[in-house]
Amino acid sequence: MEILVTGSSGLIGSEAVEYFARRGSRIHGLDNNMRADFFGPQGDTTWRLKQLVEKVKGFTHHALDIRDRAAILDLFSRHRFGAVIHCAAQPSHDLAKDRPFDDFDVNAVGTLNLLEAARQRCPDAPFVFMSTNKVYGDAPNEMALVELPKRWDYADQTLHEGIDETMRIDRSKHSLFGASKVAADVIVQEYGRYFGMATACFRGGCLTGPNHSGVELHGFLSFLVKTAMRGKTFTIFGYKGKQVRDQIHSVDVVRAFEAFIEAPRAGEVYNLGGGRESNASILECFDMIEAAAGRKIDWRYDERNREGDHICYISNMAKFRAHYPKWSLTRRVGDIVEEMVRLEQSNSVAVPG
Ligand SMILES: NC(=O)c1ccc[n+]([C@@H]2O[C@H](COP(=O)([O-])OP(=O)(O)OC[C@H]3O[C@@H](n4cnc5c(N)ncnc54)[C@H](O)[C@@H]3O)[C@@H](O)[C@H]2O)c1
Repeated sequence: MEILVTGSSGLIGSEAVEYFARRGSRIHGLDNNMRADFFGPQGDTTWRLKQLVEKVKGFTHHALDIRDRAAILDLFSRHRFGAVIHCAAQPSHDLAKDRPFDDFDVNAVGTLNLLEAARQRCPDAPFVFMSTNKVYGDAPNEMALVELPKRWDYADQTLHEGIDETMRIDRSKHSLFGASKVAADVIVQEYGRYFGMATACFRGGCLTGPNHSGVELHGFLSFLVKTAMRGKTFTIFGYKGKQVRDQIHSVDVVRAFEAFIEAPRAGEVYNLGGGRESNASILECFDMIEAAAGRKIDWRYDERNREGDHICYISNMAKFRAHYPKWSLTRRVGDIVEEMVRLEQSNSVAVPG
């Protein structure tokens, strides 16, 4: 099968390229390295593209922009894709306010361009869209919380497994990023509900793994590990550093895509994250990194929290697990931190200074 992966040099896209290629699919990657334009040299994904080109059999790269409607339609006219995995995005909450048109054009309009091309050229192909828990805006912050020594957690036991898809997506503060992702999320659902296409929105919590070109504005755990391991100072923004995120490894994200592609449904939304099995506050991440790396983290505290930032977010994946019972989490936050620390250590040996 030929699969199109957008955002193919990024964290999730590149994992999807490797994963599905290993299973025998021919992969078309689409990425214009806009992450470097958004975040500067640290966000540059050229290193990852180089790895894919060198290592992945049957991989073809297309340096296209998803905003370019004619080029996207042309690509879909030249290939008959059996599945589309859409991960290209402006992914930062905070950056969106400085680049509102780019944010909306990439996240919302780019998604529409891909959906419409798919409808015209491969309407039967499952269409996987990487959405975000920011579609809920800051509504999850309305949940009552308890303050524990190193973390916030839900006060209400019925929320123990986290936030599910019944959380409302409007009447909350999203950041412009969250709003552009809501637009994309709803239109992906609509191509499922209105046109009957096999579309799914995966509303991710923190997606992570060693292949992230992590920067301060996006890729929290990757950025934290790199900052700590390079002896730099990490800044905590608000909530006493006790804000909780669930963490899911990019491999487990891609395994969820696979489950959907093998047994697709129309117009679904799923929360996707580490859930109760894999979550931690920033302070707890510090402890894990310090234990794995054997060094203290240098950090400072800025009491201004990020606009619309979640205080405690844990994804409830009961719906996805009910639809796809064979899927399970293979890595927890401790494993992920360990893997990232070891990678940083081996890189610093390979590249002194
Ligand atoms: N990483 C997370 O914690 C997280 C959490 C929730 C949701 N998500 C979502 O998952 C998806 C993938 O995230 P990621 O962490 O892999 O991001 P990433 O930034 O690592 O990858 C996105 C890729 O898209 C490319 N891209 C950006 N604009 C483009 C354009 N106009 N045309 C072509 N390519 C373009 C970038 O160059 C980059 O390589 C995004 O939709 C993001 O919103 C990520």
